[in-house]
Amino acid sequence: MKNTKTIKVADLRTLLENKIPIQILDVRPKEERKEWKIPESDFVDVYTQLKAGEKNLFSGINFSKDIPVVTVCGAGKTSLIAAEQLQERGIKAYSLEGGMRQWTTAWNTAQTKDSQETTIIQIRRTGKGCLSYILENNGEAIIIDASIDSNVYTNIAQQNNWTIKYVIDTHIHADHFSRGKQLAEKSNAILLLPNQNIVTYKFEPIIDGTILNFGNAKLEAIHTPGHTHESYSYLVNNESLFSGDTLFTTGVGRPDLKATKEIAKQKASLLYQSLQKLVKLQSSLIVYPGHISQPVSFDNNMVCSSLEDIHNNVKVLQLNEEDFINSLLQKIPETPPNYEEIVKLNIKGSAKGADLIELEAGANRCAIS
Ligand SMILES: [Fe+2]
Repeated sequence: MKNTKTIKVADLRTLLENKIPIQILDVRPKEERKEWKIPESDFVDVYTQLKAGEKNLFSGINFSKDIPVVTVCGAGKTSLIAAEQLQERGIKAYSLEGGMRQWTTAWNTAQTKDSQETTIIQIRRTGKGCLSYILENNGEAIIIDASIDSNVYTNIAQQNNWTIKYVIDTHIHADHFSRGKQLAEKSNAILLLPNQNIVTYKFEPIIDGTILNFGNAKLEAIHTPGHTHESYSYLVNNESLFSGDTLFTTGVGRPDLKATKEIAKQKASLLYQSLQKLVKLQSSLIVYPGHISQPVSFDNNMVCSSLEDIHNNVKVLQLNEEDFINSLLQKIPETPPNYEEIVKLNIKGSAKGADLIELEAGANRCAIS
């Protein structure tokens, strides 16, 4: 198997982003695929047979000889066996190095402009569904919730000749290590965080009503506690709302992490007040959330929705406070793994010595829908 060809996550990501024809073959067990997957992939139920050393497992499938095949498994070992079998049949096959474990770092983008010529680039960690944003107007940029390697953001800014003026987060994250501090240092930008005394490094505090100007555009901070006490939403040019983990396109934030039942109830009440504040804003606002619960396709379609549509579709937003709290507390999803360790890293602002691939692996469980 020494000569079996492999492909790195970064290269597969680039092929998908550039729409190069490729066939991805997921050979994991069915249950693992159900948990999360690469949306562009096909599934072949051969995991046990591959492990057992059975041959000719792909003879029933017709592959085009011109389109390369990438085989994928959990950690990149069984997919090697699959790639080898395909190569024996004369098919250009590669195994994804590190498998789905490594795929957690893959990202893609979607882009739009508002009526004030503000560029909005949504940068999506495709596996985890973490959404971060580059906003640019007249050459000046703000980054919101940086969640992947800081080079991704600085490269995009450099290619476009943009200056990163501010780096901000919506709250102290529990599902991924914030790359905000590193990004601000690297790009000589001002790091702003919601006012709190949780993190142990220096930042400029954001308070309710803080205004940040970039180019001819304006970002206004709205305190929306509930998901966490320090959660903020950001209104840009009175057109776009970056709602962090407070409001999603199909649900609302979870109010419970690190909370007893009583505290979760109080936080749910705060979340109710915050959401009421948001739904009273103009209904034509486009809401750009901090997460989506499913893997994000390389389709360049923006994950967003109008405030009006969210208000109509997310039923808990129509409840009174008491029913809202009861409904939320009943529907709280499983606690995400490793969240305490991730919060610790975010308190320090450093992931030195930590295995981020391990800590950040798995699906996102930030929303209640
Ligand atoms: Fe969060």
